[in-house]
Amino acid sequence: MTWSPESWREKPAKHIPADYPDPKALASVEKELAGYPPLVFAGEARTLRDALAQVAHGKAFLLQGGDCAESFKEFHPNNIRDTFRVLLQMAVVLTFGASTPVVKVGRIAGQFAKPRSSPIEEEGGVTLPSYRGDNINAMEFNKAARTPDPQRLLRAYGQAAATLNLIRAFASGGYADLNNVHRWNLEFVSGNPQEDRYRALADKISEAIAFMEACGIDGREVRAIREVDFYTSHEALLLGFESSMTRIDSTTGGWYDTAAHMLWIGDRTRQPDGAHVEFCRGVQNPIGIKCGPSLEPAELLQLLDILDPKNEPGRIVLIARFGSGNVETGLPPLVRKVREEGRDVVWSCDPMHGNTIKTDGGYKTRRFDSILAEVNSFFDVCRAEGAYPGGVHFEMTGQNVTECLGGAQEISEADLSSRYHTHCDPRLNASQALELAFILADRFKEISLNGVSDGLKPVEIARNIV
Ligand code: PEP
Ligand code: CO
Repeated sequence: MTWSPESWREKPAKHIPADYPDPKALASVEKELAGYPPLVFAGEARTLRDALAQVAHGKAFLLQGGDCAESFKEFHPNNIRDTFRVLLQMAVVLTFGASTPVVKVGRIAGQFAKPRSSPIEEEGGVTLPSYRGDNINAMEFNKAARTPDPQRLLRAYGQAAATLNLIRAFASGGYADLNNVHRWNLEFVSGNPQEDRYRALADKISEAIAFMEACGIDGREVRAIREVDFYTSHEALLLGFESSMTRIDSTTGGWYDTAAHMLWIGDRTRQPDGAHVEFCRGVQNPIGIKCGPSLEPAELLQLLDILDPKNEPGRIVLIARFGSGNVETGLPPLVRKVREEGRDVVWSCDPMHGNTIKTDGGYKTRRFDSILAEVNSFFDVCRAEGAYPGGVHFEMTGQNVTECLGGAQEISEADLSSRYHTHCDPRLNASQALELAFILADRFKEISLNGVSDGLKPVEIARNIV
């Protein structure tokens, strides 16, 4: 079947709002967007594919993280800087602690649209359409706010462009320079339990750079020290927007969704005959597939056949999100099948979306311990099945919010109300995110060391980390 950026319109589409009051106004905005500059360059998406191929082969680790939903209200340079910084800190912890290169991908600069468990919301006897993300409607509970407004797409494009512009400046303009590794921690909020540990690590990195310089290598001349490669990603949910941003790459002649380097398909929109899979099969960006408890091995293979018919490493990231209690039963059959079929994919773990609970006080939250337990089970299953645990996918922010319970800060149910700012799901705060990175680095090191003591050849360790 021939593919075009619009061929998804012929397929059943879940979670795309059909209640725009003026479809002509929507079509006109989509047309306008199609003439706007791309946000990313196809060559960058290809570089990310190459980096992810390294992950697929056990030679690097994927760190993907950011907001559940970006919002117009939280759009502020400090928020962008803080999220970027905590991702850099986590990457440094993992790179140094686990001695592995880290591929850094933000859920940022375009992560607006959300699938919702119900299309309607009821409050005080009034029923309105659910909030679907700031690029569609607004969160306030009134009819005007909840009516989809196509102008919001233009605002979201502008916000994504400005966010990406700042990230690019940080990534290559000096902020991310490893010589500044100490400066990133000056901005820790006081009393952050991770501060001392991070400071000690930063000392070691500075020593290593000083040693390198004593050997005659000028750190300022080494790009890998001065700059970072940082990529953007979001869920390819609102396909009208995504197809407007999809362009032919003049270098290769292939189609790329230039709204982000990487896109993923959500657990609720991954029907093999659905619109989201149809759209994603035709663009050459790396594609994530969320794999939840309802996904059968045969269906996963069907998805891989559609989305990655040539079995190209770096094309597919399978993002397991089972919930901490379901990993041991749900994940092994998928990993086994993918391995048996010789599929060259990255396995990553989203320990957030299967672990959401509601407190008696009505807050949607997640326990730090459940998040950690899911990552640990993911590592165990990958290890037992001979697959490489290639990455993690977190909902997190650089802010000192109180949305997830526990961690070294011991956030309690009573604390949740103090700084609960998310527009959608609860995020790890900066301290909790960094804490997880430290634990992960230790776990990764332990697995690699076990591999050595099990007497495996280095090449087998690299491939399997078992
Ligand atoms: C998400 O990543 O924000 C999300 C909705 O995840 P999932 O599709 O896994 O539920
Ligand atoms: Co979410």
